[in-house]
Amino acid sequence: MSQTPNHIAIVMDGNGRWASKRFLPRIAGHKQGVDSLRRCVKACADRGVAILTVFAFSSENWNRPIEEVSGLMDLFAMALTREVPNLKADGVQIHFIGERKALSPKVLAGIGLAEFDTAKNSRLILNICFNYGGRWDIAQAAAKLAAQGQAITESSLNSAMALAHVPDPDLVIRTGSEQRISNFLLWQSAYSEFIFSDKLWPEFDENALDDAIAEFSGRERRFGQTSGQLLAKKPSTVPN
Ligand code: IPE
Ligand code: IPE
Ligand code: MG
Repeated sequence: MSQTPNHIAIVMDGNGRWASKRFLPRIAGHKQGVDSLRRCVKACADRGVAILTVFAFSSENWNRPIEEVSGLMDLFAMALTREVPNLKADGVQIHFIGERKALSPKVLAGIGLAEFDTAKNSRLILNICFNYGGRWDIAQAAAKLAAQGQAITESSLNSAMALAHVPDPDLVIRTGSEQRISNFLLWQSAYSEFIFSDKLWPEFDENALDDAIAEFSGRERRFGQTSGQLLAKKPSTVPN
């Protein structure tokens, strides 16, 4: 039987290559990526996943050509207007994770409204990492604690992080064939299972999600312990 992860995090990579393969502009791939995310949110909620965290725009993505960056900003603002009412109706609670300072007033307004409008929902928590970097998160958490004169410990840092409202991801999926973290959830993925998919993000569908969940179910999460210790703790399935 498949064990559904409580928290799935995804590096939604491969939009540009999906478009290039079809001789389309890269932005067409990003648009298709929004459709793929809509389906993925629904599929996760249907499968009982409680938290989905997605990487939508990294701190380093500002280094892309200006046309692509502004295309992504416009698409993000548009997608918020179009998708949030449906997400709200579906019981999704939205959070934006990332440095907000550099974002335009239009994007900030969309983010603020989406969070406000969905705050009372509880079916699925959707964290959208936008202008996010794992290093930024660790640094901002440490700076916050220092400003408050608090000691820096694992637990105080944990509660100052941008994802303090959710437990760590059980499963991190990266689409698009690359096997790297690209500054995503550096702190929170310490004990996550990783699955690298050859599918480009626009092609990552319900079947691909089910395959990932099935692979996750077969992994033994030891958290530093031995297999023997885990087996000893497992409740017996044999009736006495
Ligand atoms: C991921 O797709 C989306 C963003 C980084 C915004 P890419 O745009 O990185 O797609 P590839 O890797 O070039 O195919
Ligand atoms: C990671 O993808 C960021 C997002 C998916 C938003 P990139 O395409 O930016 O990562 P690199 O540059 O290949 O490492
Ligand atoms: Mg990429």
